[in-house]
Amino acid sequence: MSDTNENDHFPQLTSDSTPGTGADASISKEHGLAYWESISADENGMLGGIPSVAGFANTSKIDLQGSRNFLAKFGIGSKSKPGLKHCQRILEGGAGVGRITEGLLTELLDEEKDGKVDVVEPIAKFTAKLQGKRGVGKVYVMGLEEWVPEFKYDLVWTQWCVGHLTDEQLAEYLKRCKSALTEDGLIVIKENTTVLGNDEFDAEDSSVTRGEETFQKIFQKAGLKIVRAEFQKGFPQTRTMKLLPVRMYALKP
Ligand SMILES: C[S@@+](CC[C@H](N)C(=O)[O-])C[C@H]1O[C@@H](n2cnc3c(N)ncnc32)[C@H](O)[C@@H]1O
Repeated sequence: MSDTNENDHFPQLTSDSTPGTGADASISKEHGLAYWESISADENGMLGGIPSVAGFANTSKIDLQGSRNFLAKFGIGSKSKPGLKHCQRILEGGAGVGRITEGLLTELLDEEKDGKVDVVEPIAKFTAKLQGKRGVGKVYVMGLEEWVPEFKYDLVWTQWCVGHLTDEQLAEYLKRCKSALTEDGLIVIKENTTVLGNDEFDAEDSSVTRGEETFQKIFQKAGLKIVRAEFQKGFPQTRTMKLLPVRMYALKP
């Protein structure tokens, strides 16, 4: 994990090269969904078993705090932090059991205006835990590639799931998110990135881990600009285990 990169600035690409290197061609939706159906509906399952490894129990807490700090740089935060603005409607893409929805996003809502977090997640046993919870709005049990917006969003948060989409599907999803943003709305993609910058296919869950260049090309194709990008800092590591670099990209039209 890198310890530099406080708001790395990305040059906006000028070429019109199409995203990706072809690693996404190996993605099988059926295989990916079958993998997630076999995973337990809890935080440990959502994080690939990492929290159960000695020394890594706080991974989710550190992740959520990193996200909270990132959003505060855009003036977005909870009521407990004076001066920060709240959201009327938020979307979480690929929400799993709602680790982020419940651990971060609902605290950003403007409750006086009956704010809601809508979630998109294809595995019904994961979303079952979220239905009817405080602050949770519409639950779309489907993949991001199928989702079509019905509301306007102040914030769209999508984390640790876009590797299940092809480059083309991800660009199209982001275009739909863009069309659903409120005037000052923000899209955040928080994902693993490869150490060497190439794209890598993982046959176990049928997903792709992308390099930075591919993300940049996809964002450009969706008509989005990177307004801020940071690495998540502070994840645990041991002599034998280290998480992949996790990057937060804040995007705007
Ligand atoms: C690593 S988990 C992360 C869940 C959640 N974002 C979090 O950080 O706690 C990946 C999630 O992506 C979901 N997923 C798989 N295919 C998807 C797709 N096509 N669209 C949206 N989500 C998908 C899985 O069901 C799973 O809930």
